[in-house]
Amino acid sequence: MNRRQFTKSISLLTSAGMTPLAFSKMKSKKDLATDSVLEKSRILTNKIPSSGQSIPLIGFGTSRNISLDLTPENIKKCTALIETFFKLGGTMIDSSPMYGTSEQMIGHCLKNLDYPNELFSTTKVWTRGKQDGIDQMHQSMDLWGINAFDLMQIHNLVDWKPHLDTLRNWQEEGIVKHIGITTSHGRSHSELEKILATEPLDFVQLTYNVKDRAVENRLLPLALDRGIAVIVNRPFNGLFGFSKGQQLPEYAQELGCKSWAQFYLKFAISHPAVTCAIPATSKVKHLKANMLAGYGELPDHKTRKLMIESFKELI
Ligand SMILES: NC(=O)c1ccc[n+]([C@@H]2O[C@H](COP(=O)([O-])OP(=O)(O)OC[C@H]3O[C@@H](n4cnc5c(N)ncnc54)[C@H](OP(=O)(O)O)[C@@H]3O)[C@@H](O)[C@H]2O)c1
Repeated sequence: MNRRQFTKSISLLTSAGMTPLAFSKMKSKKDLATDSVLEKSRILTNKIPSSGQSIPLIGFGTSRNISLDLTPENIKKCTALIETFFKLGGTMIDSSPMYGTSEQMIGHCLKNLDYPNELFSTTKVWTRGKQDGIDQMHQSMDLWGINAFDLMQIHNLVDWKPHLDTLRNWQEEGIVKHIGITTSHGRSHSELEKILATEPLDFVQLTYNVKDRAVENRLLPLALDRGIAVIVNRPFNGLFGFSKGQQLPEYAQELGCKSWAQFYLKFAISHPAVTCAIPATSKVKHLKANMLAGYGELPDHKTRKLMIESFKELI
């Protein structure tokens, strides 16, 4: 069995609600608990409004976690992370030329994994000038080892007009499937609002979590109204500092949260406008916990309000 066949068999087992073979080996109590959750359900998905394609509610961010020297040890470590991500039903990997060696690292990992079919490749253009943008996007394809992206985003609105022009042509040619634009840290919201209201876009990426909720007022309702898929970045944004050593509320445990990470992620992905979140981690243990937030139940409106109140008590 080659790597592609192995990855396919894992995904078939997972989609059938069965435990992947790799998890049958040497199970700890914690692994067994993880498996039992996986056996009961599949990772939740949302549809991209513009294309109808389904994507899992949890993706994989890469801004610092895998931007490492490209040594064989680091490549092995990152390959294990990304392999686990796919095994647990993940598809969207989000990167950017801004993230140091991340795109190179992704290329090495994908090659090691024989380019899993499930991959939803997502990166950004982050430079000024039309031709520089074209060159940078071609370079990203080379670094990833692919010849088309599922989603190309304009990073932080940088020189968005010429890049959007290029991307519209590329979308027609099939070089990019979806087009998006990103911001973070609550920056440039009014300019972003104007762009979302006037330009046809498939995706917007922004910061949203139980503490940073400014986008609830205008951007999320606008995205919902315009049929624009929403990717949540920075879903943790330092939140662990508030909840360290604190007990999870009982209602959150009943919802299936076993950690504050799952509490924070379930809050972010349960907003009706949100399509998925892209937490970043350098640890397989954290990755497993994060992926499980995309399984089982999500909080309803009433529970989301309780979550906001519980968080306010922490700060
Ligand atoms: N403008 C933009 O387009 C923009 C801006 C910012 C971010 N992004 C994207 O969004 C992604 C996520 O944002 P981010 O990386 O800034 O922040 P984040 O995902 O909110 O937080 C990452 C931090 O959380 C920790 N963590 C992750 N899972 C954990 C768990 N289960 N338990 C405890 N700690 C955990 C990680 O440490 P460990 O490594 O120890 O797990 C890391 O320190 C980025 O990687 C990037 O892809 C885009």
